[in-house]
Amino acid sequence: MAAHDNWFRTVRSDALPPGRRQVVAVAGVEVALFNVGGNLLAIEDVCTHDGAPLADGEVEGEVITCARHGARFSLRTGEVLAPPAYEPLPCYEVRVVDGWIEVREAG
Ligand code: FES
Repeated sequence: MAAHDNWFRTVRSDALPPGRRQVVAVAGVEVALFNVGGNLLAIEDVCTHDGAPLADGEVEGEVITCARHGARFSLRTGEVLAPPAYEPLPCYEVRVVDGWIEVREAG
């Protein structure tokens, strides 16, 4: 996967319509992409509580609930919204270039 200015090309944007999610590998890291009502959001796919993959969790609006123990996170900021997790999730910036979803680590 090529990187330009730390942006990594992932999947075609038409492969991720509203309501869909997909896990992609970005520089060796599993990243979960979400299309929430037309907004593309990306987080590292590892719960900061005990390492569970998050992408299968229930999504309500821009909040995801870890399927393992129920921690809740903002998909937009990575902020913890409910324990047992306390550490925020790494987030990714997302853009679409030439019909491709590209991500790079935020901050
Ligand atoms: S692993 Fe996610 S809440 Fe425990």
